[in-house]
Amino acid sequence: MAQLICCNLSAGYEGKAVVRNLNFQVHAGDYLCIVGENGSGKTTLMKTILGLHPPISGKIFMDNGLKNRKIGYLPQQTDVQKDFPASVREIVLSGCQGRCGNRPFYSRTEKQMAEDAIRKMEISHLAKRCYRSLSGGQQQRVLLARALCATQKMLVLDEPVSGLDPKVAAQMYAQIEKLNREDGITVIMISHDIEAALRYATHILYIGDRLFFGSNASYQRQFSQAFPGLKGKGGDQS
Ligand SMILES: Nc1ncnc2c1ncn2[C@@H]1O[C@H](COP(=O)(O)OP(=O)(O)O)[C@@H](O)[C@H]1O
Ligand SMILES: [Mg+2]
Repeated sequence: MAQLICCNLSAGYEGKAVVRNLNFQVHAGDYLCIVGENGSGKTTLMKTILGLHPPISGKIFMDNGLKNRKIGYLPQQTDVQKDFPASVREIVLSGCQGRCGNRPFYSRTEKQMAEDAIRKMEISHLAKRCYRSLSGGQQQRVLLARALCATQKMLVLDEPVSGLDPKVAAQMYAQIEKLNREDGITVIMISHDIEAALRYATHILYIGDRLFFGSNASYQRQFSQAFPGLKGKGGDQS
């Protein structure tokens, strides 16, 4: 059964659409990469799915497990965020905010969730450090731990390796793949690294002058001339 269905969805700002007429579905355990040029509306679409903006038109359906949008979100990084003056533990714990409702403090269960996420992302040794003193790769790991506090079902990641060097980016991709494969967490990732998208994703949504949604294999069949010799997931089936 689909976890998320977007039907004729148009997303944008103040009544003006940036992306139009999107139709796609995400099933539990999928790894969807959203690709496209800068400014094509990937972040706008993601924020609309998260309920941070109303859709311009069309509908978004979510299954019961995702009701109240229990989705872990790693936002696209800005310079202001990179300079955030809080400890790693505080930042990870803030991922539990959606679970608190009107309660003004974190419960013991939530604190334990944060500790579990910190361990899972292998950042226990950084827990007391100030977030802004960390390297880019360490910061992204902290934000992934934070996103994990919000969900066991779906992670939505906006350019999670942007600005990282290739080795650190590969570690981040490996960590994300593990969460998808071993924990069965659905991943929706925005990326402008099409090669990495094709290496890891089960499905591709391309947004731009034309739209594409389908399996990784069908994307590669359709656009095979653009990726000669590339062996991604399903790419060798075509
Ligand atoms: N808060 C906003 N209000 C109005 N327009 C915006 C806002 N945020 C982004 N945009 C515009 O929407 C378009 C798509 O932006 P964005 O979704 O960030 O693209 P992408 O993530 O694909 O690079 C851009 O033209 C951008 O200038
Ligand atoms: Mg963006």
